[in-house]
Amino acid sequence: MIRNNGKEIGLAVIGCGTIGRIRSEFAKNYPGVGWIGLCDIKEDLGRKLEKDVGADFFTTSAAELLARPEVTAAIIATDENNHMEPILAACERSLYLFIEKPLATNALESEKVLKAIEACGCDAVIGYTYRFRRRFLAVKEKLRTGQIGDVSSVIARAFMNRMVPIATVRRTNQRRTLTPMVVSGTHALDMSMWLMGSKKPVSVYAQSTDKILEEWGTKDSTFGVFTMDDGTIWSMNISWALPVAWPGAVYGVQIGIVGSQGVIDIEDTHRDVVIASEKPQWAGYNPEGFDPGFDRHVDFLTSYPPGDISEGQLWGPMREETNSWLSRIYTGISTPHATAQDGHRNLLLTMAMDLSAERGEPVELPVEDLEILPH
Ligand SMILES: NC(=O)c1ccc[n+]([C@@H]2O[C@H](COP(=O)([O-])OP(=O)(O)OC[C@H]3O[C@@H](n4cnc5c(N)ncnc54)[C@H](O)[C@@H]3O)[C@@H](O)[C@H]2O)c1
Repeated sequence: MIRNNGKEIGLAVIGCGTIGRIRSEFAKNYPGVGWIGLCDIKEDLGRKLEKDVGADFFTTSAAELLARPEVTAAIIATDENNHMEPILAACERSLYLFIEKPLATNALESEKVLKAIEACGCDAVIGYTYRFRRRFLAVKEKLRTGQIGDVSSVIARAFMNRMVPIATVRRTNQRRTLTPMVVSGTHALDMSMWLMGSKKPVSVYAQSTDKILEEWGTKDSTFGVFTMDDGTIWSMNISWALPVAWPGAVYGVQIGIVGSQGVIDIEDTHRDVVIASEKPQWAGYNPEGFDPGFDRHVDFLTSYPPGDISEGQLWGPMREETNSWLSRIYTGISTPHATAQDGHRNLLLTMAMDLSAERGEPVELPVEDLEILPH
């Protein structure tokens, strides 16, 4: 049965930067997409993508694009602080929605967005690309079918090159909530929560340091321990202040899961494909106008979560994630995408870690009064 009544998808892409471009290119080649409209406040950037993907329409106004009668689905790929307005406009028409993480960068805005999504009843998913990695899908299946018994301890560690936060925060002066957990730790946090299934966090105690990235208005590292409702302990840690010289250009993760009848240990630091060259190495990650000011000669390949470019095309999890979302709309298959509820929960958990670190004491969960979280 064709869920979308066999109708071709009319896709609006809001934000034509790095990620909007990648997803638009996949959409262009997806047979069920019949119309593509683009929007970016930077007209030159958007016009270039319009030409490259042969889009049907371009505007600098998200409201104008989202009101077009052809539009049935929308991708919100604006930068982190600018997700809310286009989501609310898309909810007016109950469009299928794909929203880049984080759902918002403000606890109250996130709640407002979630309520709008629930009220309009649209199918909204969040871009937690890690869920589309084969290795994590294999682990999820082992846990779902109880292969290691009852899980009691989980440890997650994300290491990131400081190129990523510097490239991220330089785009805005509103950096208060652009912390390592809110912007990037959210991927490892979502993965840990997804793998743990129905367990719910009841408290978190975290600490942060900002010796290196303070000048950029963000923190270096946040380490925390969650306690879950069944007594499971989960250690969630990120440092995104690794030097530019660190071979991992973007994201490396280790996750260990201990159960009553087994253990799963995931090594995802990308040390298995290493290049060392006399020529400077640039990763798949290349934000517009960003110069790290340092030549990197050694690189762990494949550390860029969306995937890697080969002969002008991106191959990797973001292809699976985008195409399976389009199939979710067009044919109605079920997919492992994070829901809007997952996105909201993830934002509140990452902010609760930041709050605990600020206060220097544990925070009870769930946080009922969102006014105490950054907004
Ligand atoms: N899933 C992943 O692996 C992954 C990886 C990187 C980034 N992201 C997320 O994707 C989102 C976009 O990141 P990016 O790296 O593409 O950023 P980017 O800066 O390259 O692109 C964002 C674009 O949005 C445009 N924009 C901002 N406000 C707008 C508005 N109101 N209307 C229209 N256009 C607007 C900007 O002009 C810019 O061109 C962020 O939320 C980021 O966290 C996800």
